Amino acid sequence: MTNFDIVPNRRNTNSIKWLYYPKDVLPMWVADMDFPAPKPILDGLHKVVDHGVFGYEMATPGLKETVAARMDKLYKWKVKPEAVVAVTGIVSGFSVAARVACTPKKGTLVQTPVYNEFHEVKNNIGIPQLDAPLIKHVNGNILSYEIDWDIFEKQVKKAGMFLLCNPHNPLGIIFSRKDLLRMAELCIKNNVLIVSDEIHSELLLDDNKFTPLAKLSSEIAKHTVTLIAPSKTFNVPGLFCGFAIITDKDLRERYEKEVGRLRLHVSSAGLYAAQTAFSGQCDGWLGELRRYLTGNRDFLVEYVTEYMPEVRLTIPDATYLGWLDFTQTGIVGSPYEFFLKNAKVAVSEGKIFGKGGEGHVRLNFGTSHKLLEQGLERMRKALKSL
Ligand SMILES: Cc1ncc(COP(=O)(O)O)c(C=O)c1O
Repeated sequence: MTNFDIVPNRRNTNSIKWLYYPKDVLPMWVADMDFPAPKPILDGLHKVVDHGVFGYEMATPGLKETVAARMDKLYKWKVKPEAVVAVTGIVSGFSVAARVACTPKKGTLVQTPVYNEFHEVKNNIGIPQLDAPLIKHVNGNILSYEIDWDIFEKQVKKAGMFLLCNPHNPLGIIFSRKDLLRMAELCIKNNVLIVSDEIHSELLLDDNKFTPLAKLSSEIAKHTVTLIAPSKTFNVPGLFCGFAIITDKDLRERYEKEVGRLRLHVSSAGLYAAQTAFSGQCDGWLGELRRYLTGNRDFLVEYVTEYMPEVRLTIPDATYLGWLDFTQTGIVGSPYEFFLKNAKVAVSEGKIFGKGGEGHVRLNFGTSHKLLEQGLERMRKALKSL
């Protein structure tokens, strides 16, 4: 059994999350967890270090087979190993897709509020961004979101690519099969490439299930680039290794050509970690992690409901990210700045997630129960002093 209550001190490392703010600030922002990676990954990396030679490497056919086998095992989704393309992370992965599918006239469609890096694609690639904000609902203090189909249909016509975030960061939504089918249908009808960022797909809370969009039909798969990685699930994001699964040969060739042009070469450590992570050896650890994160999620929701009733929040189905709405609390200006100054807690500023993000923050609960409680206590006290 892993004891997730014990987390290493990360202050004396190069962690962005722990170094960016002064020492008295508790960081609950960047999306990595405070837990060590599972032992099989650490053991594997130790072996590589002991060997001592860090030469150039590439994704082997064996690794691609492992990725394909994991898709079969988890979802009964049959993909050929050659459909798997190694990428230097998921942000690189969707940036490459934008270079393949978008033009200055045909941009990228996103469902806001959504992962901040989605909003960087427009400037980095030089293409327009089309927003399809999700509709927010409030029930008591609980938030939920749904797709605004009128806006989606209008915007998809102008897009070259639809960048789907499923499970959704920061809202924690796992989109329903019905919604996925409808989104895919509209994309296909309008000749829009679907790029499905599924990086959080194995971080399921409760007993939730997940189905990759491309598994829904071979026609959908033909129009989709699926992006997955062991990085969030097994907490190895700094090793920068992800995979694009592209079943259509022509699309894959265009994609691989762009990966080659940009010289996006994955590090050997990342490839080793991915091999171990997706082999199944870490699945026991993952089951324990999911239970721990579900406990943290429940604690977050219960704590906010009881002690900060004017704050609204989502109940995420997946991820270790909470989304909190402070618009009814009397905080003037940005709640991110308010908590940084008054609670010494660093959460993620809602505005960076685009339309619908103002007055909200994202809170990372991928940490020990104790640190989560400390952060929430600090926030509660700061709110009380208003
Ligand atoms: C939805 C989503 N995509 C991609 C990433 C980052 O991926 P990578 O570090 O592999 O580029 C994150 C990290 O938070 C994320 O939440």
